[in-house]
Amino acid sequence: MNFKQEIARRRTFGIISHPDAGKTTLTEKLLLYGGAIQEAGAVKSNKIKKSATSDFMEIERQRGISVATSVLAFIYKNKKINILDTPGHKDFAEDTFRTLTAVDSVIVVIDVAKGVEEQTEKLVEVCRMRQIPMIVFINKLDREGKDAFDLLDEIEQKLGLNVVPLTYPIGMGYDFRGIYNIWEQKLNLYDEQNKPKISEGIDFTDLNQPVLTDKIGQDAADKLREEMELIREVYPSFDREHYLNGTIQPVFFGSALHNFGVKELLDCFIDIAPPPLPKMSDIRMVHPEENELSGFVFKIHANMDPNHRNRLAFVKIVSGIFKRNVPYLHVRQNKKLKFSSPNTFFADKKEIIEESFPGDIVGLPDSGNFKIGDTITEGEIIQFKGIPSFSPEHFRYINNADPMKAKQLHKGIDQLMDEGVAQLFTLEANGRKIIGTVGALQYEVIQYRLEHEYGAKCTYEPIQVHKACWVHPNDPKNEEYEEFKRIKQRYLATDKDGQLVFLADSAFSIQMSEQKYPSVKLHFTSEFN
Ligand code: G4P
Repeated sequence: MNFKQEIARRRTFGIISHPDAGKTTLTEKLLLYGGAIQEAGAVKSNKIKKSATSDFMEIERQRGISVATSVLAFIYKNKKINILDTPGHKDFAEDTFRTLTAVDSVIVVIDVAKGVEEQTEKLVEVCRMRQIPMIVFINKLDREGKDAFDLLDEIEQKLGLNVVPLTYPIGMGYDFRGIYNIWEQKLNLYDEQNKPKISEGIDFTDLNQPVLTDKIGQDAADKLREEMELIREVYPSFDREHYLNGTIQPVFFGSALHNFGVKELLDCFIDIAPPPLPKMSDIRMVHPEENELSGFVFKIHANMDPNHRNRLAFVKIVSGIFKRNVPYLHVRQNKKLKFSSPNTFFADKKEIIEESFPGDIVGLPDSGNFKIGDTITEGEIIQFKGIPSFSPEHFRYINNADPMKAKQLHKGIDQLMDEGVAQLFTLEANGRKIIGTVGALQYEVIQYRLEHEYGAKCTYEPIQVHKACWVHPNDPKNEEYEEFKRIKQRYLATDKDGQLVFLADSAFSIQMSEQKYPSVKLHFTSEFN
């Protein structure tokens, strides 16, 4: 297979959902199709159990699982499929946002009974802003849920999507008869007695054939005919270009648990989902077909073995072929690094690879060189964009609780921040350090990991911060900026990259500052150019 064919056959995507909608179950069923696992239950759910949010062993166990399931790759119908895992727990939302910078498309899972939930809204909004192609899978049709049309309306209204159903359910819950596959014009009947059997469905181009009544009964046949008529009138027909540019979103119905409707989803997905896409760097667009290698780090995972503080940097290959033992430029550090044991991921295992293609994810063992957002190339000085930090929701002072271990504490904090566990701000006025996080859970994770991996102890102290605003003056030399800095001195800090941040104590104070110093722009993300 040549280089272009290798690129064209790759599909790198993420599955997003509110916890419990069925992401893990769907992932597992998809893997079964690739023959990548032999039985259901092999992919462990990596969600943090709601009841165990402060159980450290649970957190550690989850970290172990999440390294194994960070990337799940398999081959299906000669397509190389890479599923990137996205944590569902809201406290790890920033991890998910970063992972979304490495996917070429997403599948959104929605629970038919619960409809659109909070986490789905947030994640879909990020995908929509980035124009990531999305497919929606409505799950748990074997249970009673919302009416299909109502749910499609809800998805359009709450998520701002334009849906196009490509399968449609025949009944649900107790009355669930199956689905009509609009995409392939097939009828696939749900066999309550014979759930594990995966049916191909039967060709059914004309729903007016009387035989439909024999198959599903008069009432269900009439209803299906009526609803299909309505679908044709109400929804646009599927257009791949529109799906790829994010203006329409195909919808599938099924039951992940019973492996029903999943094959329809996967078969359509491999046909329509995009191969690896070009990516913007600070100076130019980089295309996958370019010969020279480029890639970026979107995730860093600390090794589970505390005695070997090695980490794994997850790199998405954007262009060229990644090769083992070839020196590549670490752009930020301006130094060449070569990797003797890059990992690839296959099903739930990782192995050393010789080469990888655009769309693939390689895991590079790292002793502390990488941080999230770093770019590697064959020599070109470019930096991929699009991994901003968002303003954290929670802020606390961090103090050293063991003066003998100051060095360990520094190192630990530095490395945890590189991994993207939280954000560190240093106050300009007195050098005190503040940790900002998305969820309260991270404070426990940081404290626990500092102690167990670095031998350092910390305590926290409350601080009143409403939001972190990255400061961007129109003119760094004008008087207005000088005055802003003088008046706001107490609230100014620098982030890990040395950028100036205004730690505003209230929404009001942001508003006042914007009025008083209009030339000093305040941004809620670190990347705003
Ligand atoms: P998540 O990763 O999105 O958090 O969801 P997960 O797949 O773990 O599924 C959450 C729960 O929903 C699980 O039940 C799972 O078995 C169930 N589920 C998933 N798909 C379907 C479906 O199509 N139909 C029905 N009826 N249930 C489904 P659980 O009891 O929380 O866990 P478990 O003990 O079954 O693992």
